[in-house]
Amino acid sequence: MARITAGVGSSHVPLLGVAVDQGKTRDDYFGPIFAGYDWTRQWETEAKPDVVILVYNDHASAFDANIIPTFAIGCGERYKSADEGWGPRPVPDVEGHADMAWHIAQSLILDDFDMTIINEMDVDHGLTVPLSMMFGQPEKWPVKVVPVAVNVVTYPVPSGNRCWALGEAIARAVESFPEDLNVQIWGTGGMSHQLQGPRAGLLNREWDNKFLDLLSSDTDAARYIPHIEYLRETGSEGIEMVMWLIMRGALGEKVKTLHRHYHIPCSNTAIGHIVLEPAI
Ligand code: DHB
Ligand code: FE
Repeated sequence: MARITAGVGSSHVPLLGVAVDQGKTRDDYFGPIFAGYDWTRQWETEAKPDVVILVYNDHASAFDANIIPTFAIGCGERYKSADEGWGPRPVPDVEGHADMAWHIAQSLILDDFDMTIINEMDVDHGLTVPLSMMFGQPEKWPVKVVPVAVNVVTYPVPSGNRCWALGEAIARAVESFPEDLNVQIWGTGGMSHQLQGPRAGLLNREWDNKFLDLLSSDTDAARYIPHIEYLRETGSEGIEMVMWLIMRGALGEKVKTLHRHYHIPCSNTAIGHIVLEPAI
């Protein structure tokens, strides 16, 4: 039986991909950011997941205003790194787990989540930067990935409550997959940031840390944070944090925090990172 053994939350700032690709991860600017991921890179070599269900958002790379799936699942065999304007990142292709992804898609749809099924797409920084943060620069990614893409770019975006419930449904889907697989679920994006308009550059250390507290507490208070609070307190792009709730919802009632990291600033963003384990 497949089982979810851990959840990882992480920002997915494109500049961190540039730092990895250009060998700058230990310079004065990036050093303190990457230092907060050292623990996780080591832990991942011991945790050895087979599959990562990687919750992220596409930033107008695979989708655009012509098609806006609220929740989509990648059921393909492999995904290439998207060209976001500077050429594709020099990272390995991302290998999917088509059998498991189709199983999850079926389970979710029969569980009343109307997923969009994607067989072919390129994946942008939202997916490849977290892989680089957690695994460095291997010749081949050490995990298979089931991408779960969430629309957090064009309103209406899904509520935190709906995201949490999707996480619960993903956990049910994984538990009913017969193969004996070690599965992690990652929620990416955030933390506070606003990339445009008069409030561009907005960061909110206090609110972000309160959110991290809530994630690692045994309550489900975070699932009911309304959109307007994310917007007001964390800027227009802070809404990416609802994707962390899919990860948290999949871990069950109680969790144990294994690792936590927060750093300001990185590019236009606050960096947040947490590693959680389901607790009995
Ligand atoms: C930045 C952060 C993001 O999450 C993103 O998707 C794009 C840009 C930034 O801080 O520059
Ligand atoms: Fe983003």
